Amino acid sequence: MEKSKIKVLFVCLGNICRSPSAEGIFKKIVNERNLTDNFFIDSAGTSAYHIGEQADSRMRKTALKRGYRLTSLSRQIIEKDLIEFDYIIPMDESNYLNILSLDKNSEFKDKILMMNNFSQNYINSDVPDPYYGDHDGFNEVIDILEESCSGLLDYIQTIGI
Ligand code: 4NP
Repeated sequence: MEKSKIKVLFVCLGNICRSPSAEGIFKKIVNERNLTDNFFIDSAGTSAYHIGEQADSRMRKTALKRGYRLTSLSRQIIEKDLIEFDYIIPMDESNYLNILSLDKNSEFKDKILMMNNFSQNYINSDVPDPYYGDHDGFNEVIDILEESCSGLLDYIQTIGI
C-alpha cells in the first residue's frame, strides 16, 4: 500500500450494508473535492458472515437510486488493518468494541473514530443496522452517511492532508 496516501477504513458487522455504503459515499465526496489521488479508501466487517459477497442487493439498489454504485466485496477486518490504516471508522458501538479487541496492546485507539462523530444531526446515534429492519432503513443509512462522510472529510482536510 502506498505510504503517501491517507488510508480510511469503514467498518460494520457484515460489510454488506453500512460500511460498503460509507466507502462508496466517501469515495464520491472525495472525488467531488478532487482529492481522489490523496486517498486509499476501503471497508471491512468485524464478522466473517459474508466474506466474498457483494453488498446486500437492497442496499445496492437504494444506493444506486441515490447516485452511488457499490462495488466492494465483503472482507473481514484483520489486525494488520489497524497498523496500515490512518482512520478506522466503526458504524456502531459494537463494531467499535470489536475493533478494540483486535488492538491487543492498545496502540491504535486514537485512530478509531465513530462515524456519527462527524455528523450534525445524528451525533448521538449509531448508524443503525438496516439488515433485519422492516422500515426503510436503507435510505436512512444513506442520509446519515452522506452527512457524516462529508463531516469526516472536512475534519481530515482541517487537520491537514
Ligand atoms: P452491516 O449489516 O453490518 O451493515 O453489513 C449486516 C449484515 C448482515 C448481518 C448483520 C448486519 N448478518 O447478521 O448477517
